[in-house]
Amino acid sequence: MNIVIVGLGNIGSYFYNYLKKNKNNIFNKTNTNPNILFVSAKSFGKKRNFPLSKKMWLKNHLSATKNKNVDIIVELIGGAEGPAKRLVFEALKNKKHVITANKALVAKYGDQLSMIAEKNKVNFEFEGAVCGGIPIIRTIKEGLIANNINKIYGILNGTSNYILSSMDRDKLEYKDSLSKAQKLGYAESNPEADINGDDVASKLKILTALAFNSFINNKSILVEGIKDIDQVDINNSNKLGYKIKLVGVAELIKNKITQRVHPAFIKEKSYIAKIDGVLNAVIVESNPVGKTVLQGEGAGPGPTTSSLVSDLCSVLRGNVKFPFVLSAKKRKFAAFESINNKNFSTYLRVDVKDHHGVLSDVTNVLAKNKVSVKRLIQNPTISKKNASIVIITHEAKSSSYTKVLFMLKKKKYVINTPKMIRIENI
Ligand SMILES: NC(=O)c1ccc[n+]([C@@H]2O[C@H](COP(=O)([O-])OP(=O)(O)OC[C@H]3O[C@@H](n4cnc5c(N)ncnc54)[C@H](OP(=O)(O)O)[C@@H]3O)[C@@H](O)[C@H]2O)c1
Repeated sequence: MNIVIVGLGNIGSYFYNYLKKNKNNIFNKTNTNPNILFVSAKSFGKKRNFPLSKKMWLKNHLSATKNKNVDIIVELIGGAEGPAKRLVFEALKNKKHVITANKALVAKYGDQLSMIAEKNKVNFEFEGAVCGGIPIIRTIKEGLIANNINKIYGILNGTSNYILSSMDRDKLEYKDSLSKAQKLGYAESNPEADINGDDVASKLKILTALAFNSFINNKSILVEGIKDIDQVDINNSNKLGYKIKLVGVAELIKNKITQRVHPAFIKEKSYIAKIDGVLNAVIVESNPVGKTVLQGEGAGPGPTTSSLVSDLCSVLRGNVKFPFVLSAKKRKFAAFESINNKNFSTYLRVDVKDHHGVLSDVTNVLAKNKVSVKRLIQNPTISKKNASIVIITHEAKSSSYTKVLFMLKKKKYVINTPKMIRIENI
C-alpha cells in the first residue's frame, strides 16, 4: 500500500522515521507492505531530522488525492480549516483512505467526512486525535462493542493537567506553572486551546458521538477553562480533601446526553485525582462490562505515532469500517441537553470586605436561590481589611449558581469576581 504523509512537524517527522524503521514489523503483523511514496509539508527547505530527497517530495500535496498509485493519505498539518480540511475532503472524495490526528477537524467536520468515507468504502481513521497514545477510539469501536455506554469522562488534556498538578505540588501560581510547562515543551507558545477547555471539548465531542452512536453535537456543551484558578483555590481544595482537575464528562441521563468541560473538585482519594502531570485518563461506564479505565500519555510524537500506526495497520489489514461505529443511517440525532437542570454540589469562594453583616448577606443570596450551605469557612483572612468566604454547598441546580454568582458580583462588598467550582463524585 502506498502512503503519502502530509505534515512533517512534531508528529509527522516522528511517524515518518518510525515507519522507515519498522516496515518489516508492520509487514509481519499485517501481511502488507507500508511503502512511503511521497511526503509533503509547507517548505521543502526546512531543516528536518531525516534526509529528505527531492524524489520523495510532493510540491502540491493535493495532487496525491488524484494520483492512482496513492492508497493512504496521512494528514498531520492540523487545524479545522485551510489546507488540512481541503486535503482530507479531497482525499476521501477520491477514494483514498485517510488517517489523521487532527481533533479540531474531526470535531468540526467528522460527520460529513465519515459519510463520504462510508459512501466511497474507504477508511477514515482518527485514533491519534483523542488522547494521543491512549487507544480509546479503538476500545469503544471494537473492545467494548458489546456494551451500552452511559458515561465517558476523564482528564483529556495533558497541558492543563500538568499546570494544575504543578500548582498543587510546587505551589506555583498559574502563570508561573504555565511558563514552566512551556519551558519543558508541554505547552505550545500559544496554549489558549489547552487552557480554555477547547481542546478537551473537541475530544469530548468525538468521544460522545462514538460512545452514544449520535452525531457530533457542537451546541449544548459547557466549556470552562483553568485560567481563573489560583493558589488560594488550590490550598482550599487540599484543606477540604480534594484536588482540582480539568475534566471532560459526557453522560446519558433519561435518554438525554450532556457534555461538559470544566475544572472540578475531586475527592483526593479517587482514581482521577491521582492522574498527575501530562498523563491522561479516560473512564468508560458501560453495561454489562462496568467500569473500564485507560490511562497513558495523552500527547507527544511517540504516543501519537502509536495511535497512527494502529490506524495504519487497521487499513493495511483491509478492515474498512464505519468511522463512527455505525453507518450514518443508523446513527441517531440524539437529544442533547445543557447542564442547567443538573444538580451539583459546589465550592464557592467570595472575597469580601470584612464588614459586619457581609456573611449573612452572602448566605441570604444563596438561600434566595435555593442553594443551601453544607460547610462554611470564613478563612483565611486575605488581608487586615478583607476576608475570603469559602462555602461547600449541598446539591442545587446548575442554573441556581449562575443566579447566585450574578447577584454576588453586584454587591459592593465583593472585591473579586466570585468563583464557583463544581464538585464531582468521580
Ligand atoms: N503535538 C502533539 O502532541 C499532538 C498530539 C496529538 C495530535 N496532534 C495533532 O497532530 C497534528 C500535527 O501536529 P504537530 O504538533 O506535528 O504540528 P506541527 O509541528 O506544527 O507541524 C505541522 C506541519 O504541517 C505543515 N504545514 C503547515 N501548513 C501547511 C500547508 N499549508 N501545507 C502543507 N503543510 C503544511 C508544516 O510544514 P513545515 O514543517 O514545512 O513548516 C509542519 O510540517 C495536528 O492536527 C495536532 O492537533 C498533535
